Amino acid sequence: MKHEIKRLLKEKNAILLAHNYQNAEIQDAADITGDSLGLSIEASKTDAEVIVFCGVHFMAESAAILSPTKTVLLPRIDAGCPMADMINKDDAISFKEKYPGAELVTYVNSTAEVKAVTDICCTSANAIRVVASVKSDTVLMAPDKNLAQYTARFTDKKIIWWEGFCPTHEKLTLEDVLETKGKHPDAELIVHPECRPEVIDVADHVTSTSGMLAYTKESKTMKFIIGTEIGIIHPLKKGSPKKEFIPASEKMICPNMKLTTLKDIYDCLNEMKGVVQVSEEIRTKAKKSLDRMLQVKRDE
Ligand code: 13P
Ligand code: SF4
Repeated sequence: MKHEIKRLLKEKNAILLAHNYQNAEIQDAADITGDSLGLSIEASKTDAEVIVFCGVHFMAESAAILSPTKTVLLPRIDAGCPMADMINKDDAISFKEKYPGAELVTYVNSTAEVKAVTDICCTSANAIRVVASVKSDTVLMAPDKNLAQYTARFTDKKIIWWEGFCPTHEKLTLEDVLETKGKHPDAELIVHPECRPEVIDVADHVTSTSGMLAYTKESKTMKFIIGTEIGIIHPLKKGSPKKEFIPASEKMICPNMKLTTLKDIYDCLNEMKGVVQVSEEIRTKAKKSLDRMLQVKRDE
């Protein structure tokens, strides 16, 4: 199957991108793996005519927004993100109307329609820098209340958040973390900013998925408890084969991230199905908020 996928990728001038939460065999077959920010940048840079995005719908939409001349395929068109669906365009407009003058920072885990009415996007890797770059003293953040509350720790600006959350990260409770820490007192605890504030309070380090990869490679520590979707354990082990990685909880599985199989990739390439498109009107507006975010990344 892997060989057939490689052949089709070459034949169609396609690139295979996979998020760090994808099943191990998908990550191993990919040309590039990464976090939401890294993959959206790669999608905008590639010369390939076709982007096969192994992730969830909003990620493929971001690729379509940034690369309008390319065909973007999502091997499982039913792979969505429940957090992204916790706010719609009308909600976002009303949120802004309630706080005139405040800029709306929207997590990339959102639909293209919501990005289109957003001032600037952010990811878990750049949220603090994005909020610092915004001119208004009051900043609205959506849809993730946990990322917003985490970001609020690093700014004097007033952060007002939307009450959305990631069901996979919300599952991780303080009790779970304390129990795992109790079993492994010599391990460092690293968690994702989508985790609950009380979990973040007891963490040694808080970062995005690619941040976790970089941090654990560089650190002298040999044992880590990982508080994010358990798909990340595979690239962490690959990056640091001599180190030990323990999931903070085995419950942390995102069902949407686990849908994609090698057969789905083969089928979508073979039949060129699962095309993700964004209307030109929404695309140009959404692109402005993504471009503004990418500018923050480049400037610093
Ligand atoms: P990052 O890979 O950007 O940290 O995102 C986490 C996530 O939940 C993606 O769906
Ligand atoms: Fe959405 Fe959470 Fe799954 Fe990421 S892990 S796709 S934020 S539900």
